[in-house]
Amino acid sequence: MDKIPLPFPVAGAVRFPNQAQFHPLKFVSGIAKGLHIYEHTRVRELIGTTAVTNHGRVRAKKIIVTTHFPFLSKHGSYFLKLYQHRSYVIAFQSAPDVDGMYLDEAQTGMSFRNYENLLLIGGGDHRTGKKGGGWQELQDFARRHYPQAKEQYRWAAQDCMSLDGAPYIGPYSASTTDLYVATGFNKWGMTASMVSAMILSDLVQGKKNPYEEVFAPSRSILHPQLAVNGFEAVVNLLTPTTKRCPHLGCALKWNPIEHTWDCPCHGSRFTEDGKLIDNPATGDLKN
Ligand SMILES: Cc1cc2nc3c(=O)[nH]c(=O)nc-3n(C[C@H](O)[C@H](O)[C@H](O)COP(=O)(O)OP(=O)(O)OC[C@H]3O[C@@H](n4cnc5c(N)ncnc54)[C@H](O)[C@@H]3O)c2cc1C
Ligand code: FES
Repeated sequence: MDKIPLPFPVAGAVRFPNQAQFHPLKFVSGIAKGLHIYEHTRVRELIGTTAVTNHGRVRAKKIIVTTHFPFLSKHGSYFLKLYQHRSYVIAFQSAPDVDGMYLDEAQTGMSFRNYENLLLIGGGDHRTGKKGGGWQELQDFARRHYPQAKEQYRWAAQDCMSLDGAPYIGPYSASTTDLYVATGFNKWGMTASMVSAMILSDLVQGKKNPYEEVFAPSRSILHPQLAVNGFEAVVNLLTPTTKRCPHLGCALKWNPIEHTWDCPCHGSRFTEDGKLIDNPATGDLKN
């Protein structure tokens, strides 16, 4: 397409038919019907295929780790393969209906979609622990292009990014049996989790899946992003500050927008008084 109903010129756009926009909580509530789900039950450790929690042990034939960032650090080298990226969304009232969902192809580009009478503008992305446009970029954009728009709600979230842009779905590592993983969704986890479900339900039953090689966590890690991740790790391990990340010891950065301590290495986050918000760290900051 060479025209879209957004308030800036575009060189061109690719239109995909048959896309779905859905309410994620209603969707999860639908697919979870009939399943036993234990909330507030953090897995502290895996011993083979036994999950150790504060309330007891759960024994299983097979375990799939879907904890956002895989929390077992000693297998699979996920601390080399993954980093995290924050994204921001603001919902505006008195803004137009853009008649569809729009996504910029750049990693730090913007997204547009409506929900009821609101226009949701997303963007301002940056690696967790680094500086980026944040909500300010979205507010500036709205002021310039939709001067009538009034901010109603705002969110920030982050997702795990893989080295090559494709998720890691399959066996957790070469040295773990009956343990599987689905992670590195690159901000497409609602769709990629469906791909994960298709691949993993075959693998746990011992069946082949035509897509397993594309998403195999053991695929090559030789990618320019590996050097970027390595550089961030070295710089932040050598930075002298008192606030250290309990995951692997990187220097934490103060996030003045959200009032949190954020780790540029793999994206763990903590409240101002040191309580864990986002993994891969598994515990609070020590005073
Ligand atoms: C701004 C934004 C917009 C997005 N838009 C889209 C979109 O349009 N389409 C799309 O497909 N995707 C989208 N995504 C991406 C999608 O939301 C994520 O990829 C997805 O939610 C990640 O799912 P997850 O299961 O890996 O992690 P989570 O949703 O974080 O789930 C991990 C779960 O594991 C639990 N957990 C963690 N550690 C432990 C432990 N030790 N023991 C027990 N439980 C544990 C956590 O409590 C949590 O419930 C968007 C993301 C962002 C940030
Ligand atoms: S998240 Fe890994 S060192 Fe901080």
